[in-house]
Amino acid sequence: MRRLEYRGYDSAGIAVVADGTISSRKKSGKLSNLIAELETSPLPESLTGIGHTRWATHGGPTDQNAHPHLSDGGKLALIHNGIIENFAELKQELLRKGVIFQSETDTEVAAALLGDIYRNQIGGDAAKGGLTRAMQLACQRLEGAFTLLAVHADQPDVVVAARRNSPLVVGLGDGENFLGSDVSGFIDYTRRAVELGQDQIVTITADSVEITDFYGAPAEGKEYHVNWDPASAEKGGFPSFMEKEIHDQPDAVLQTLLGRSDIHGRLTLDELRVDPELLKNVNKIIVLACGTSAYAGQVAKYAIEHWCRIPTEVELSHEFRYRDPIVDENTLIVSISQSGETMDTLMAVRYAKEQGAKTVSICNTNGSTIPRESDAVLYTHAGPEIAVASTKAFLAQITAAYLLGLYLAQLRGNKFQGEIKDILADLGKIPAKIQHILDNEAQIKELGRSMADAKSVLFLGRHVGFPVAMEGALKLKELAYIHAEGFAAGELKHGPIALIEEGQPVFVVVPSPRGRDSLHSKVVSNIQEVRARGARTIVIAEEGDEAVKAYAEHVFYIPETPTLLAPLLATVPLQIFALALASAKGYDVDQPRNLAKSVTVE
Ligand code: G6P
Repeated sequence: MRRLEYRGYDSAGIAVVADGTISSRKKSGKLSNLIAELETSPLPESLTGIGHTRWATHGGPTDQNAHPHLSDGGKLALIHNGIIENFAELKQELLRKGVIFQSETDTEVAAALLGDIYRNQIGGDAAKGGLTRAMQLACQRLEGAFTLLAVHADQPDVVVAARRNSPLVVGLGDGENFLGSDVSGFIDYTRRAVELGQDQIVTITADSVEITDFYGAPAEGKEYHVNWDPASAEKGGFPSFMEKEIHDQPDAVLQTLLGRSDIHGRLTLDELRVDPELLKNVNKIIVLACGTSAYAGQVAKYAIEHWCRIPTEVELSHEFRYRDPIVDENTLIVSISQSGETMDTLMAVRYAKEQGAKTVSICNTNGSTIPRESDAVLYTHAGPEIAVASTKAFLAQITAAYLLGLYLAQLRGNKFQGEIKDILADLGKIPAKIQHILDNEAQIKELGRSMADAKSVLFLGRHVGFPVAMEGALKLKELAYIHAEGFAAGELKHGPIALIEEGQPVFVVVPSPRGRDSLHSKVVSNIQEVRARGARTIVIAEEGDEAVKAYAEHVFYIPETPTLLAPLLATVPLQIFALALASAKGYDVDQPRNLAKSVTVE
């Protein structure tokens, strides 16, 4: 569990099967809290158990919400990674059957469902397939993303697990077998691993591993040898957390989208818990954030104003607080913070609340201070971000802010209602498009390495490409300690163009040629202007955009996508570039000098 703690560290728990019962301990906070609990209250000796480190999605990081969750009269224990999208309707069904819930989690619903099926459909009968059969039947009812592991007191030698859209690997030992979200959990014991496919169930004992699909048909896993050392295993085999987190981005966006719309293309952000009438009356939105999160806000401004027709400002939290801003009860404050602890943002939110504003937090850390003090929260489900410079949280923040914008548009009944479904469908395609960029990262990595000697790099963008340019520059400052600036491409002629001299590298984020107005041609003109003055032009453009080729020293193509969604793609090559350049300089990309992941001073 220590090795898996990087995947989540807000609570932890363990359950073992011994003497015909389940014994379980769980604690909020870091794993060390659980260890202390186990020292004062040890578990009985056992050869079968499950353990979990949590990164809260549904329900805050409390002892009660920690996993495992029990059912079948305390005889069954279950842990879960992922999001069960239809948990609310299953919970209603189970409540009607008299199930009593102890926590606010979707996981407890899965535990109760599994327990109910085991007891009432299988009759607790091993001859009818026991826990494995119950797991198959339960999974047929679950929607969303989940890895589930369960043990039952009746079957003390068995652990049953299931996987859909969340990771699960088996470790094959000698007279012992393991399950883990990734191999780092068991790499000290075995290097033989089996990767499970989508929608598979695995039943392990100390000396057997049996895999089926959700309907009981036998299935095969893919065995492989793990040659990572334990340290890189935590990083998914990548040399740094930053690189791993860049590669986590398809999943970060997917998880943030999951469970937030129905099949009719309607947003279902019930978790917001703000009176919809209040949201309807909002006449101004102010987005408050710092650093990368503020750039996510700047991207979101374009979309929110376009979709909702509500004037939207984005302001650095520390500036907002001290300028006597105009805020009242019809102002919606949207704070964006990965950590939920940034003091500047917290103070700004408190100040806005005092003025009567409604506050919504977009945050990646469940139970942290900013969401706790806000009227409502929309969590990004990017998973823990360990590298100091933000990557996957940024894409998840944009995704969440877009969902909020679409939700407001839906509530207000704007005329573009019919489009919401299409936009959601386009958002749903983003994870695969990010994956495509990652699969083709060699070219941008090579460029990054080759530019390790650069003294200054400029970034240009227009419209949503402008904050993307600023984020690209920030990544380079943070990781490679190089002077870098992001400019609005249109502003070039009003000053920054004086910086251009022979050989100056300039990245240009080019909007889609299929997009609105003359945005594309304006930016292509900007490339020509800097190129004519000797700049080395590096262009991020949409696949099929031939027009840029003539003026670009390097072109990196990103998949076609609507203009407003393009930042979710265009940012990725800029992150990879900064990472490759900083790595080539030999810098520690996970912990850059002078920076902290969460800045809790003003
Ligand atoms: C620090 C980090 C940045 C981050 C900013 C805001 O400065 O180094 O990477 O963007 O804080 O953090 P937050 O947790 O509020 O998003």
